[in-house]
Amino acid sequence: MEAPLPGLSLLLVLLAVGWGSGAVTAWTTSPGGCELVQSTADCTGRWLSSVPGNLRGDTEELLLDDNTIQVLGNASLLSYQQLRRLSLTKNRLELIKPGVFLSSQGLHALSLADNLLFTNYSLTAAALSALPALRTLDLAGNRLTEDMVSVLVWNLSSLESLSVARNIIMRLDSSVFTNLTQLLELNLEKNYIFEIDQAFEGLQRLQRLNIAYNYLPCVVEFSLTQLRELNVSNNVIEWFLALESDDLFELEVLDLSHNRLLFFPVLPRQSKLHSLLLKDNEMSFYQRLPNGTSLVDVTVQFLLIDGNSTNITTVSLWDEICHSNLSSLHLLDMSQNQVWYLPEGFLAQMPSLTHLKLNQNCLETFQLLEGDPLAMLTELDLSQNQLVELGAEVGAGNILPNLQLFNLSTNRLQVLPPGVFAYTRKITTVDLSRNRVNLCPQPAVAGEAETPPCVDIRGVKTLTHLSLAGCGLRGLGGHPFQGTSLMHLDLSDNHQALSGDLGWLQDLALTLQVLSLRNTSLSSTAMDFSAFNSLVRLDLSGNSLSVFPSSLGILKLLSLDLRDNCLPALPPDVAQMPLGKSLQEVYLSQNPYNCCTLGWWDSLQRVKGLHIPDGQEMTCSYASRTLSPRALPEPVLWSCRWQTADLALLYLVLALPTCLTLLVAFAVVFLTLKQKLLKMVKSRCGVSTPY
Ligand SMILES: *[C@@H]1O[C@H](CO)[C@@H](O)[C@H](O)[C@H]1NC(C)=O
Ligand SMILES: *[C@@H]1O[C@H](CO)[C@@H](O)[C@H](O)[C@H]1NC(C)=O
Ligand SMILES: *[C@@H]1O[C@H](CO)[C@@H](O)[C@H](O)[C@H]1NC(C)=O
Ligand SMILES: *[C@@H]1O[C@H](CO)[C@@H](O)[C@H](O)[C@H]1NC(C)=O
Ligand SMILES: *[C@@H]1O[C@H](CO)[C@@H](O)[C@H](O)[C@H]1NC(C)=O
Ligand SMILES: *[C@@H]1O[C@H](CO)[C@@H](O)[C@H](O)[C@H]1NC(C)=O
Ligand SMILES: *[C@@H]1O[C@H](CO)[C@@H](O)[C@H](O)[C@H]1NC(C)=O
Ligand SMILES: *[C@@H]1O[C@H](CO)[C@@H](O)[C@H](O)[C@H]1NC(C)=O
Ligand SMILES: *[C@@H]1O[C@H](CO)[C@@H](O)[C@H](O)[C@H]1NC(C)=O
Ligand SMILES: *[C@@H]1O[C@H](CO)[C@@H](O)[C@H](O)[C@H]1NC(C)=O
Ligand SMILES: *[C@@H]1O[C@H](CO)[C@@H](O)[C@H](O)[C@H]1NC(C)=O
Repeated sequence: MEAPLPGLSLLLVLLAVGWGSGAVTAWTTSPGGCELVQSTADCTGRWLSSVPGNLRGDTEELLLDDNTIQVLGNASLLSYQQLRRLSLTKNRLELIKPGVFLSSQGLHALSLADNLLFTNYSLTAAALSALPALRTLDLAGNRLTEDMVSVLVWNLSSLESLSVARNIIMRLDSSVFTNLTQLLELNLEKNYIFEIDQAFEGLQRLQRLNIAYNYLPCVVEFSLTQLRELNVSNNVIEWFLALESDDLFELEVLDLSHNRLLFFPVLPRQSKLHSLLLKDNEMSFYQRLPNGTSLVDVTVQFLLIDGNSTNITTVSLWDEICHSNLSSLHLLDMSQNQVWYLPEGFLAQMPSLTHLKLNQNCLETFQLLEGDPLAMLTELDLSQNQLVELGAEVGAGNILPNLQLFNLSTNRLQVLPPGVFAYTRKITTVDLSRNRVNLCPQPAVAGEAETPPCVDIRGVKTLTHLSLAGCGLRGLGGHPFQGTSLMHLDLSDNHQALSGDLGWLQDLALTLQVLSLRNTSLSSTAMDFSAFNSLVRLDLSGNSLSVFPSSLGILKLLSLDLRDNCLPALPPDVAQMPLGKSLQEVYLSQNPYNCCTLGWWDSLQRVKGLHIPDGQEMTCSYASRTLSPRALPEPVLWSCRWQTADLALLYLVLALPTCLTLLVAFAVVFLTLKQKLLKMVKSRCGVSTPY
């Protein structure tokens, strides 16, 4: 009686196998739920607690991220002998058994980030040491100490890239990475490293070293000549001193940002440095003090103690920089420091400089130099300083010939040197926002002999972006933009600047694409935008417009901002206008719209492809109440309907009772009269009627 049952189950098994292989050839999903594409098996995020054993035998890349694998057993990878890349990030891996990789000798990239490998690291180390071809290893986020790391990488002499970021390493010495002679790239980011002692000296090929987000207090006698990129940002470094030697350093990128540097770093004398990042430190120059004292001869002595030997290095703080050849430097970022002046000749050492960032310092003056020093400069950021003036030699030629972006925002400038843009033949962007400037020509003020100082941008042909936001502009007249082809113009936050007609803007009618007139006290209805055919973005927010400027209707804007005005309504047919058809984004909130005339709002909401980011904040007013147009109460709707119903109907309705009353009165009067009349006739004729 039991005979048929095994037969049945055998059949079922055969069926299942048939299905399984069918699915594999159709590349979609295997029984483990993995996605197979060519030689890659992607089993990411499938709650797997072990490596699936039924994938293709020629799998070269196996992705098992985001699963719950705890142990990698001896036989886990036995069926995948072609494996070259294995990723097991974000599992609960505690142990990799020593025999596991014996069958996958070709593995060259292994990612084990975000696991618990600290638990049985010595057994795991034995497993890793069986990988002769391993080139890339990621051990980030495994709670490893320096001793554990040392054991784990002890035999990995083929390694080219190693990450031990986000662990609990505190100290590094020469024992940790000794055998990694092929290493090109080492990531030690986000540990607790406060001391490094000769840890990288054996790494002869190391090119990129990242020690960002640690607790290093200083870097002294930096001597890794072969290193190309050093990232020590986000530490607590007060000093950076390179070894005093004439060796050529390969260093190209040095990131010292977000530290506590007090002095400009002492860089290698000869290097290939092209990016020097010193943002957010406490740097200043101390040769001159604000009270006029000179500290030219001041030197600092460093006491370097190594075991029982002591060395004293004497550094003349400013002098030393002169010994570094910075002729290849392209990018210098000194933003967010305490620099109040640049020493003489400082920039002259950097003839290749293309990007100079000195924003957020306390510079009081800046000297624009003729010719060589800044000849290559394309971007100069001096924003957020205390600049009262820009200096330029009178009659100097060829100032900043390659400059494209000049940011002078948030200073105390009133004027720029005359002719400052005469030689900047590539300038496209000037940010003068939040200064105290006025544009030339200045309208003559009655009673004042001299016209106030002004900035002349007329004729700067290449200029396309200009910001004059918050400059306290006092009236624009004449043709301040003549000869420019501005596409972006920001005039926001200027209270007294703009008169009703936009005549002063007419020179830009053909080119202007983006215009901001936010918070400029606009109230006039006479503003005529109809000539600005190229305009695609217009910001009119924060004004007191009480009528929608009718000239906007014919523009093909993509974005319009009308927030915070006094508009009671938009035109009812706004959705049918060219404007309504082209708009992709419109801001409408903070206006006292009339709740009873919201037809335009309903039609705008129906426009396809139009985004109203502040639609949720829309309100309207009804009898001094503020309501949401999305949920107007029924009584309001009714009374709105009454208000807006046809006037003829209204008159009819109002007239009807009066008419009726009159009619009734007339009828009554008529009937009474009629009776009296009849009686009169009857009495006249003396005929009695039988009523
Ligand atoms: C796993 O492999 C290692 C090394 O080959 C061996 O010593 C160990 O006995 C194996 N363990 C099991 C359970 O097979
Ligand atoms: C792994 O480590 C835990 C705790 O350190 C230990 O109890 C366990 O025996 C280790 N497992 C192996 C296989 O060594
Ligand atoms: C490194 O390899 C040697 C010989 O191959 C072996 O004796 C040693 O145990 C290995 N060390 C580690 C930490 O795996
Ligand atoms: C690793 O370095 C140690 C000591 O420096 C040495 O004894 C060992 O043989 C090296 N291992 C390999 C695989 O190079
Ligand atoms: C240095 O590392 C930090 C942190 O990872 C990163 O944000 C920064 O971009 C790096 N610097 C460079 C120059 O790559
Ligand atoms: C200038 O300031 C420095 C430091 O604050 C002080 O040592 C020096 O005496 C001052 N010099 C004068 C002339 O006031
Ligand atoms: C001290 O200086 C000498 C000679 O310049 C050098 O050989 C030695 O390594 C230095 N010692 C330390 C601890 O820097
Ligand atoms: C430093 O100490 C070592 C022993 O610790 C000794 O051999 C060496 O001579 C000492 N060097 C000096 C310069 O004192
Ligand atoms: C600086 O280095 C460049 C090559 O990188 C070289 O041409 C130039 O002569 C050097 N300048 C000085 C002053 O050593
Ligand atoms: C100029 O700098 C300010 C602040 O430092 C910044 O907000 C603005 O975007 C910059 N302007 C340009 C055109 O990059
Ligand atoms: C409007 O601009 C003035 C300067 O003209 C400024 O003080 C004020 O803060 C601005 N208001 C808003 C809301 O930005």
